[in-house]
Order: sequence, then structure tokens, then C-alpha cells
Amino acid sequence: MSRSSRYQHKDRFFQLAKQSKFVARSVFKLDELNQKFRLIGKNQIVVDLGCAPGSWLQYLAEHVGRKGLVLGYDVAPVELSLGPKVQTHIVDVTELSPERVREDLQSLRQQAAPHTPPNAPPPPVDALLSDMAPKLSGIRDADQAKSVALVEFALQLSRTLIRPGQGVFVAKFFQGRDSDQLVAEVKRFYSDVKLLKPEATREGSREVFVLGRRLRPSK
Ligand SMILES: C[S@@+](CC[C@H](N)C(=O)[O-])C[C@H]1O[C@@H](n2cnc3c(N)ncnc32)[C@H](O)[C@@H]1O
Repeated sequence: MSRSSRYQHKDRFFQLAKQSKFVARSVFKLDELNQKFRLIGKNQIVVDLGCAPGSWLQYLAEHVGRKGLVLGYDVAPVELSLGPKVQTHIVDVTELSPERVREDLQSLRQQAAPHTPPNAPPPPVDALLSDMAPKLSGIRDADQAKSVALVEFALQLSRTLIRPGQGVFVAKFFQGRDSDQLVAEVKRFYSDVKLLKPEATREGSREVFVLGRRLRPSK
């Protein structure tokens, strides 16, 4: 990219972020992925890991429609009011179990649709997204390993929560020496896997997203 097009690139997302109603520019990455691959649809149930300050939640709340549900987790609080179909929890995802997510989904559904019988089984998740980023130490390999470890937690959760044969898994990580191994692991569980770098990613950033679609049935 030339110096002037690099400037325009930076300027475009900077201006967009300033003008938009979204609380973070991260939303442009999700929007790009969604426009290209149609990941999020009406009435879907979406889990958003690393959801603070909440731009993805704002976007998801609009895109899942009236009957969709969005559950967010982060170690930091989300200070937005996003209506009854969105619920957030302050949790370290490395300590999150699928059982806990299912319980939270039950309670969210009860909040969004109070007439649902309380003993109805929890619905399967349509999309599990992770924009989690570890606290950076500045040591490249260590930071990369931490980001890969977060994706591995997200991947394990997705395997139990997403309906086999369906579903979408999207997770951000820093590219580095563990990347190929991570992508291979996602391929073990999802039949359609892609490595993506949205245009809205900051100049010079090593972050990429792995997209997995169609969860393979467990053996
Ligand atoms: C880039 S921000 C996410 C931005 C968000 N997608 C948005 O649109 O507003 C990364 C988030 O990952 C969270 N995070 C990092 N490690 C985490 C962990 N182990 N458990 C939960 N959240 C974590 C951070 O607290 C931070 O809020």
C-alpha cells in the first residue's frame, strides 16, 4: 500500500468511527466479515466473547432481529443498555463452562420471552464469536501464544454449544508461529475454515480472524 492510500485507509475507519453510534471501531471488522460471509441472521442466538466495550453487541442486537438473543462475556463491564435480548456477564472466559453458558441462555430467553416454559431445553447457539485480546506484554511470541490460548478456549466452548452440521465460529488472534497449528485444530472441528484479515484491521497489526463454519458431528 502506498503512503497516501495507507493514509486514506486509516482516515476512512477513523472518520467512520467518529461519526458512528458504535462504541468501538472493532465493529467495522465484524461488519466486513458479516457482509462477506453472511454470518449473522434474524432470530439467531449469538455468544460474544470479549464483548466490552460493546460495539459488536450493538451490531449484533440490530442484526439478530426481534427474536434473536445475544449473550456477551468479558472480564470488563459493558456500560450500555441494549434491551432485553442482550445480556452481558463479567466473567473470565478461561473459567467459563458450557453449562454456565446454557444456564445464562435460559435466563436470557426468560428475560426476552417471559412466556417460554422455564423447563424448555436451552436453545443451541448459532454463532460463537471471540474478539478477545490478551493484555499485551510486548513480548511477541508470548502475546501470540496468549491470544491463541484464548481462541482454544473459545473453540472448546463452541464445540459443545453449537448445533452439529451448522453454526459459525469466528475468533481473533495474533498471527505467529502457532497460527498453522491453530487453523489445523479449527479444521478438525469445522468443515469450512478460512483465515481472514479485514480491511478495518489497524495498519501493521498482526491480528487475523479464523472463521469456521459447519461444526463436524462429534465422533
Ligand atoms: C478488542 S476488545 C473487544 C472489543 C469488542 N468486540 C467491541 O466491539 O467492543 C478485547 C476484549 O477482550 C477481553 N478479554 C481478554 N481476555 C479475556 C478473558 N480471558 N475473558 C474475558 N474477556 C477477555 C478484554 O477485556 C477486552 O474487553
